[in-house]
Amino acid sequence: MDLKDKVVYITGGSKGIGLGVAKKLLEAGMKVAISGRTQNALDSAATCLGSQNNTLMITSNVSKIDDEINAIAQIMDKWGQLDVVLANAGVGHFAPIDELSVEKWHEMIDTNLNGVFHTLKASIEALKKSEGYYITLASLAGTNFFPTASGYNATKFGVVGFTQAVMLDLRKYGIKVSTIMPGSVATHFNDHVPSEKDAWKIQPEDIGDLVLDLLKMHPRTLPSKIEVRPSRPDLK
Ligand SMILES: NC(=O)c1ccc[n+]([C@@H]2O[C@H](COP(=O)([O-])OP(=O)(O)OC[C@H]3O[C@@H](n4cnc5c(N)ncnc54)[C@H](OP(=O)(O)O)[C@@H]3O)[C@@H](O)[C@H]2O)c1
Repeated sequence: MDLKDKVVYITGGSKGIGLGVAKKLLEAGMKVAISGRTQNALDSAATCLGSQNNTLMITSNVSKIDDEINAIAQIMDKWGQLDVVLANAGVGHFAPIDELSVEKWHEMIDTNLNGVFHTLKASIEALKKSEGYYITLASLAGTNFFPTASGYNATKFGVVGFTQAVMLDLRKYGIKVSTIMPGSVATHFNDHVPSEKDAWKIQPEDIGDLVLDLLKMHPRTLPSKIEVRPSRPDLK
């Protein structure tokens, strides 16, 4: 894909991985729309990204299909095309199953699983037109289960299965579909505050480089499921 002036939509792009990917794609010449629920976080992201002509900040909660339909409409109004969608927004709540609240369970399902479905449903016709690329941000928790992660595991196993099935549905339209499954990334996930102690972790911009590699891959070749982990967890 020639990336100059191609349009990408990144859900949950106001912080963490989404923001790191946004920076890299903007540097590569793309037009970048990012979303999040909180205006303050979007304002800080806008300052951090700088370029006003090539960026669009959208208030949207991925758990609401109407928000995502509206987000795609804003992108089509501004740029008239949509080439890449990164369904990245996600939350994690960790507690043993007897302590995990019904509310936290539903927040994870609504955001991490229903959200990626809503984002795709809202963008699918635009992606058919551009023969674009739909990428989900899953996790190694989509293949490895662990104590306290029942809800999070359920969503990320779901995202991996959803994305792989969608890949088989959409390749006949020339749409590429991949899921990225990272281990620890230095972000604000689960109320973490990134610091120099996170130097051993994957950095958000590294996921940006990975997305760039996917977009530049020869059209005949599709890495559909990518596991990525810190190479030196012993430096924790
Ligand atoms: N960090 C890791 O170690 C790691 C590892 C593997 C996978 N992941 C996955 O990576 C993705 C990004 O997480 P992150 O680590 O970058 O976390 P983060 O730093 O907390 O960023 C999450 C982003 O998602 C947005 N968001 C949350 N709920 C949303 C919703 N309902 N609708 C729209 N936006 C929403 C947040 O903004 P607002 O709160 O303002 O909405 C924020 O911009 C998630 O899917 C996560 O599961 C993370």
